[in-house]
Amino acid sequence: MDYVEHRMAHEAVREAADSAGILTPLNAILALILLYSLHATFFRGASSSNRSLHRPPPPVVFRTYTPRTLLPFNGENDGPVYFAVRGRVFDVSRGRNFYGPGGPYSNFAGRDASRGLACGSFDEEMLTKDLDGPLDPLDGLGRDELEALQGWEERFLEKYDVVGKLVSAHEYGESTGPK
Ligand code: HEM
Repeated sequence: MDYVEHRMAHEAVREAADSAGILTPLNAILALILLYSLHATFFRGASSSNRSLHRPPPPVVFRTYTPRTLLPFNGENDGPVYFAVRGRVFDVSRGRNFYGPGGPYSNFAGRDASRGLACGSFDEEMLTKDLDGPLDPLDGLGRDELEALQGWEERFLEKYDVVGKLVSAHEYGESTGPK
């Protein structure tokens, strides 16, 4: 009995559709054209603009630097600008106006900027002199200076990518040399 009722309902729906003329070949073609143009408008347009607007950034290769290998990253010849703060190497190329050649803070480019930032000083003796010696242990900094340094670090972490770590030449040799 159920089967008969089901069958009758099915036939009724088909007759209604046929008499309303929904399933004609012309309507099928029109529906296909409509679907195609909707697809072209929304999907293809969106994906091509996505491609140009959201080009993936170049991959960041995290490396270990020493004061000497960091030195060339001073922005000369349109190259990248890096500096280190308490062992973290930041890519500050986006702040080229500050740190690049001729910028007000170009003394920090390619260097360990920790002490200079902590003390708010551009003096030469703020920078590690012996590039093959130990890193600046930041001895002798007061509470205010350490707080100032932390403030800078927080700002840089928000603004720039960390692209590596800074270690002394000795530490670098120990980690990569023959065991
Ligand atoms: C006469 C004193 C100074 C003036 C007028 C000055 C002015 C400025 C200005 C206008 C900015 C841009 C702020 C922004 O747009 O975010 C800036 C940023 C900065 N300043 Fe100074 N500054 C002075 C001293 C110093 C000193 C003594 C240091 C450290 C040694 C320093 C380190 C920096 C750094 C690291 C930035 C941030 C750049 C960045 O966002 O990457 N400034 N300064």
